[in-house]
Amino acid sequence: MSPTTHRQPLLEIEDLTVQFATADGPARAVDGLSLSIKPGEALALVGESGCGKTATALAIMDLLPAHATVSGTLRWDGAALDPRRQRGQGLAMIFQEPATALNPVLSVQTQVAEPLKVHRRLGRLAARQEVLRLLDLAGLPQPETLLGAFPHQLSGGQRQRVMIAMALACQPRLLLADEPTTALDASVRAGILDTLARLQRELGLAILLVSHDLGVVQRIADRVAVIYAGRIVELAPCQRLLEAPVHPYTRALLACLPDPFSDTPPAEPIPGQPPRATARPTGCAFHPRCPMAEPACLRLEPALEPMARAPHRLVACPLVHGEPA
Ligand SMILES: Nc1ncnc2c1ncn2[C@@H]1O[C@H](COP(=O)(O)OP(=O)(O)O)[C@@H](O)[C@H]1O
Ligand SMILES: [Mg+2]
Repeated sequence: MSPTTHRQPLLEIEDLTVQFATADGPARAVDGLSLSIKPGEALALVGESGCGKTATALAIMDLLPAHATVSGTLRWDGAALDPRRQRGQGLAMIFQEPATALNPVLSVQTQVAEPLKVHRRLGRLAARQEVLRLLDLAGLPQPETLLGAFPHQLSGGQRQRVMIAMALACQPRLLLADEPTTALDASVRAGILDTLARLQRELGLAILLVSHDLGVVQRIADRVAVIYAGRIVELAPCQRLLEAPVHPYTRALLACLPDPFSDTPPAEPIPGQPPRATARPTGCAFHPRCPMAEPACLRLEPALEPMARAPHRLVACPLVHGEPA
């Protein structure tokens, strides 16, 4: 864990809203989300599928499709974020499925060298040396043997590491990693997460790790933001969140994590489904699935606020504000 507590944020997201025009009407994927990431910090954004994690990451990268409407403020190092400028000079992203993100007809060397030529204007020889260094940094041993390989000749884990090398080629200060290990086997998953943790440590890289799996993020996250229906419902240091989850949704997420040291079958998933982005419930969006819900929860949309007994923890549920954290 890095001592990043007092530094000014690298990226600040304020009141971000992303809405897609769909045949069923407007789909609000992100709904007034605020979040900040400090230099060198690993922040995890966790929630079930469809909660707005990818839409948030794509909004930061300015990669949303044309039928998306975005509002809110994004600041980078205290100034307005211009993603076109920051991309390649501070912001990079890796995706869930490296097989589709890589170009199938280009060799590893060509793909990793591309950003070096575009953003860093390196010549051929210097670029080759740098590609070797980046592949090594991304945890690929004997990188010379991979330079001529094409994506289909690599394993899933190797492909994700090539993606990481490409992201590092832009010398990022913040890496957005959207479900980077979801498509991989458990054994490969741990290796990729360890590599991300090492890069955070060695390069002082900030990481926004997007995942549906609290088990995955606990390996590297300094802080965890839990997202539900496009809003942050709980934000806390990772260890505290795992030891003492407060929001009923966080508790439910944790309760259905399989216990790696026990033979008991994985717990039941959370009953019900997250709401569709076209049909948000009134009040607290989690109320239809919440075991604690009271009539007021149907009316009032709770704000994300510091907890009475632990001001460094934020939670959006008035029912649990006074609880020990
Ligand atoms: N391109 C799109 N067009 C229309 N709706 C979309 C699009 N992408 C995402 N959505 C909707 O926005 C919501 C959030 O999606 P997403 O951010 O991909 O969730 P997550 O990454 O958390 O699984 C979902 O309800 C999804 O159906
Ligand atoms: Mg996603």
